Amino acid sequence: MREKVLITAALPYANGPLHFGHMAGAYLPADCFARFKRLQGDDVLFISGSDEYGVAITLSAELAKRTPKEHVDHFHKINLDLFNQLNISFDHYGRTTTKLHDPIVQEFFLTLKKRGFVEEKETEQLYAEKEDRFLADRYVVGSCPKCSYPEARGDECQKCGATFDALDLKNPRSKMTGAPLVLRKTKHWFLRLDLFKESLYKWLETKDWKPNVINFIKPYIEELKDRAITRDAKWGVPLPLEDSDGKVLYVWFDAPIGYISITQEWAKNRGESEKWKEYWLDPKTRYVQFIGKDNIIFHAVVFPAMVMGQDLPYKLVDALPANEFLNLEGKQFSKSSGWMIDMKEFLTTYSSDLLRYTLAANAPETQDSEFTWRDFQIRVNTELVGKFGNFIHRSLTFIHDRMEERVPPLHALSETDNTFLAKLEEMALDIKNHYEHFQLRRVALLLMELSHLANTYFDHKKPWVLLKEKENREALETCLHICLIAIRTMALVAFPILPESAEKIWKMLGNTTSLGVQNWSLVMKEELTVGKELPEPKPLFAKIEDEQIEKESAKLQKTLTPEVAVAPKKAEIVYDDFSKLDLRVGKIEHVEKVAKSEKLLKLSIDLGFEKRTIVSGIALHFKEIEKLLGKQVIVVANLKPVKLMGITSEGMVLAAHDGGLLELPTLADLPPGSTVS
Ligand code: MF3
Ligand code: ZN
Repeated sequence: MREKVLITAALPYANGPLHFGHMAGAYLPADCFARFKRLQGDDVLFISGSDEYGVAITLSAELAKRTPKEHVDHFHKINLDLFNQLNISFDHYGRTTTKLHDPIVQEFFLTLKKRGFVEEKETEQLYAEKEDRFLADRYVVGSCPKCSYPEARGDECQKCGATFDALDLKNPRSKMTGAPLVLRKTKHWFLRLDLFKESLYKWLETKDWKPNVINFIKPYIEELKDRAITRDAKWGVPLPLEDSDGKVLYVWFDAPIGYISITQEWAKNRGESEKWKEYWLDPKTRYVQFIGKDNIIFHAVVFPAMVMGQDLPYKLVDALPANEFLNLEGKQFSKSSGWMIDMKEFLTTYSSDLLRYTLAANAPETQDSEFTWRDFQIRVNTELVGKFGNFIHRSLTFIHDRMEERVPPLHALSETDNTFLAKLEEMALDIKNHYEHFQLRRVALLLMELSHLANTYFDHKKPWVLLKEKENREALETCLHICLIAIRTMALVAFPILPESAEKIWKMLGNTTSLGVQNWSLVMKEELTVGKELPEPKPLFAKIEDEQIEKESAKLQKTLTPEVAVAPKKAEIVYDDFSKLDLRVGKIEHVEKVAKSEKLLKLSIDLGFEKRTIVSGIALHFKEIEKLLGKQVIVVANLKPVKLMGITSEGMVLAAHDGGLLELPTLADLPPGSTVS
């Protein structure tokens, strides 16, 4: 039966270029599934687009000195190009800043409110007086409530991973200016997620999702409470209520509804405005969402609750293949530290199928996995060239050179022929099952097993020997006919992962149509046309040399810039604030470790006019503390004395840090006691 399948892939923020990790986690698996289902003859609609509202956008736009609109226009285009280069076959890749988006998002909100699922509350939020605005989420930095890390972001701590509300931070400051924030009253609207607990539980019972997904959600549902779905901001979907100027809906409220508004836009572009309903409002649709693991809660709990609270019967997600992360050579991809491979540049050197295959073979399906240059080379050289490409090329060249470039006839089958043909069918079926269950790693593995089997058949049959005796003519023709069937099977089952190469193979089999629009079971069943002319075969893939890979690895290491956690700016001061400091040049005359402390050093410092004892927390940075002797450093001379480990410290030595390293600024010529200002 023809299945109606709605496939969505998480809407990526339009605030930076996508990398291999995004592709391996969501977009490639989604694309392979879409291509596979189309081959099954199903009615597939594959939707995604740019997520363009929210703090992730405005913050990075501000840092890039662009307006939010300029920013999303810029990255929407870049990412759309990347998707095209990688042959991701969206039926539509839209955006959340289109005209159609706001009305349906607002309707979702109003319906939830009408049905009692939205509550209005006056709350205190962090306010930046200088900037004259409320700050939320990533606009705020402060000390982590869990681990006290002083530079935690307003929504989560990069150090310990805790997630929280910006209000929970200690000493909250503005990320942009460093100014301390004050609490100010403001009104917000909350989604009563707690009211959906029962329905969510019941609904989840019917799902056979991956354990990593289910185990993650269950405890979360247990503790559901209301959650703010509005923000004080200008960039976003406006709240559709009177007296709500300056309020927009939270990005995680509007973005998933983007799946619907983008489908509406797809329908409108086709001149069939109502057609989106055939997917979204029909209970017979099967809805599959591809996401990364960091998006699970919003897709498995929050958005489903929002859908359950509607009047219209929008589809709830049926399958949620959520993947883990893909790393790069053992470390997380990181744009800021240069631990990245520029995908655009990559795809100008290597074909997209090479990347698709490598990412599929390493898909982070059940645990984090990684891309390495070395693995990429092996995948290409030994698997694609050595196994898959090898069988196809050697068979086709043989037929081209020795069999008058035509499909030879099939005669009586030997036992080997029969076994091989049966195995081909069995493996194609196996591969089909793994595509159905989103298991690309298994598919990639089976593709190689199939190629190996085909090579073994060819070696075993030895057509080059059969060729020598006239009486073996029929056996020879049969063998090569079967090789062509194997090649066709390989093209078909590889198509979702290797669309470009599979199309090439399809053409080399003498077809003028496109493989992508064929039907899987018909292709499997159809007999080859004996005598059909075959074009000249060309190799599908080329080996990648060692020097090439070494060059790539070296390039990656070189772009790696040490990760400097740039300390947020502090609040502005006036000269009077600064002039209160009495800074002096001081000469270190004696140094010793403080007993029972790893970090502290006890220094005797000559300030010219007097000698001081200063306890300084720099011990870990100096292997040989004697080397400090005689150094002239800068001392804060009017700091109120404090006791540290029982020693009175009469001042402070200035030091420069970047979070990891530490250096003491020193002076050479001026005598102790000189002032610094
Ligand atoms: N933009 C989000 C991210 O990159 C994903 C949004 S998915 C959607 O993490 F469902 F909200 F659209
Ligand atoms: Zn923390």
